[in-house]
Amino acid sequence: MYAELALIGLALWLGLPAWIANSTPVIFGGGRPIDGGKMFRNGGRLLGDGKTIRGFVAGVFWGTLTGAILVYAAPYVRSGMVNYLTVTPDMDVILNMPLLVGFMLSVGALTGDLVGSFLKRRVGLRSGAPSPVLDQLGFVLMALIFAAPFLDPNSFYPAVLIIVTFGIHLLSNTLGYLIGVKKNPW
Ligand code: CTP
Ligand code: MG
Repeated sequence: MYAELALIGLALWLGLPAWIANSTPVIFGGGRPIDGGKMFRNGGRLLGDGKTIRGFVAGVFWGTLTGAILVYAAPYVRSGMVNYLTVTPDMDVILNMPLLVGFMLSVGALTGDLVGSFLKRRVGLRSGAPSPVLDQLGFVLMALIFAAPFLDPNSFYPAVLIIVTFGIHLLSNTLGYLIGVKKNPW
């Protein structure tokens, strides 16, 4: 039981900088768009007004700050964990992640977000139009790709993070649909 909790908990731990980096631009973003208003060939905006320089910088800042808090908290969390289970080396890789990983996860998350917008514009979706799966997983996938050189290649935490992230979105959207605040369950 504790081992399963630790598996999910540490996957969330790894994902936290990317999640924060991806969600803070909504609050702190705005201003000049990254694409400077440019169009792509003849098919609409390169990225759109939803992707701003301030949002990108804010996301990297808050995501990296989250990483710093995790670095600070890790020894305390670890010393609590040892009362319940054996902390294995792969768990320690996550718990001992250096600040650089928090930074890479943040830059990766925001880059994934830009790639997502680029693809959405190419298929004719307007800024803000939902794109299920791409909106929910694109940023996590790219965050993990950016952080991959600093993670254990045999670790299963990245895979758990992808599944858990998808599960949380599915759950919250279904819940939103059931209580009537969302029109459809995706
Ligand atoms: N945002 C920002 N800069 C970014 C990313 C996001 O300023 N690099 C802000 C924008 O105000 C954006 C909001 O956060 O409208 C929500 O982000 P997101 O859902 O990623 O963008 P969308 O507006 O939905 O645009 P797109 O269709 O391109 O994803
Ligand atoms: Mg959106």
